[in-house]
Amino acid sequence: MKERIILLLDMDAFFAMVEERENPHFKGKPVVVGADPKEGKGRGVVSTCNYKARAYGIHSAMPISQVWRLCPQAVFLPVDAKLYSEVSKRIMEIIQAACPGCPVEQVSLDEAYLDVTYYPTLKYRSKGWEKAEKIAKKLRKEIWNREQLFCSIGIGPNKMTAKIACEKAKPSSVRYWMSNVSEGIMVVKPQKVQDFLDPLPIRDIPGVGPKTAAILKRFFTKRELKVKDSKKATKEELGELLGVFGNTLYDRVRGIDDTPVSIKEEIKSIGKEHTFEKDTRDGEEIFPIFRELILNVVEELREREFSVKTVTVVCRFQGFETRTRSKTLKVASQDWKMFEKEAMRLLLKFLAENLKPVRLIGVRVRVAVGEAE
Ligand code: TTP
Ligand code: MG
Repeated sequence: MKERIILLLDMDAFFAMVEERENPHFKGKPVVVGADPKEGKGRGVVSTCNYKARAYGIHSAMPISQVWRLCPQAVFLPVDAKLYSEVSKRIMEIIQAACPGCPVEQVSLDEAYLDVTYYPTLKYRSKGWEKAEKIAKKLRKEIWNREQLFCSIGIGPNKMTAKIACEKAKPSSVRYWMSNVSEGIMVVKPQKVQDFLDPLPIRDIPGVGPKTAAILKRFFTKRELKVKDSKKATKEELGELLGVFGNTLYDRVRGIDDTPVSIKEEIKSIGKEHTFEKDTRDGEEIFPIFRELILNVVEELREREFSVKTVTVVCRFQGFETRTRSKTLKVASQDWKMFEKEAMRLLLKFLAENLKPVRLIGVRVRVAVGEAE
């Protein structure tokens, strides 16, 4: 495979920065977007917050009641999905326009990969990595000029490296390679990938969540596990520990990731969730709300002409014990009845397995664009 040059662009504190832009009087204040705090009695979570709020230790998915205790003076705002989705659409257009013809894969509202390997050198009067850096600078400038929003960009020879580089380029990051970060852009050239990855905590590798990290730390009997340490395990050992993901991880810690920037199937996900005012086991309360969540998701899927690829249901019980389970369909489908049935089946399974009262329910789908193939 020819050496590739991949960019990952991710907006900084996206929902919160859009709100700040729309409301200049919020400037300098901590801004938290998410559930209603209800003077400390609110039961939902944070979607995101600006960097001022992050200085208080606030982060995405933190219970809003905790935020209220940490920083009651914050500006609390509900999620304005329509507004963020409009801004997102314009940003994606800017990205596409910066390098016409380049594969762009949007992975969420505020994040997209670009493969600029074959982008003609003429327009930027430079080649290879220099060209990529110029494109990144132009993108940041364009997005700032047109939308008054900041983004961070990671550049690497594959998606994984670009993704991690982007995290390190964030204003919030403790930068490992200060000299390589310039104004929200970090470049990791192929010969530097291993040096870049080795000192990182294993949790920085995409796909390694808290559970996987705990399994690995136990295996290596280490409290702090770095990427470098994890390379001591053989492919077989990782496979035994982690199943299929073991093989993937074996490659990832070595900087190997061949997944293409794919435009054909632009994968996104749509999800809705609901936190009950009081934990409940009452079916008459749970099922109508779950059905409404499903209908809301279907409405959005229809509007955007998406079809369903994977259905995920989340159920949080008393004590914040959270279960998620997914079902991937053989072919992407627009059979909404079937989607509802699958989601319901997953929820019923949770309720049968766990008799604790329910705090939150949610349904999320990974989608494919357009009609089923
Ligand atoms: P992220 O890109 O993960 O976060 P961010 O843009 O707010 O901050 P940064 O990238 O600078 O670290 O997510 C993009 C948006 O998605 C975010 O603004 C809000 C939303 N979101 C949630 O609603 N819940 C979540 O748990 C997360 C992580 C994000
Ligand atoms: Mg972001």
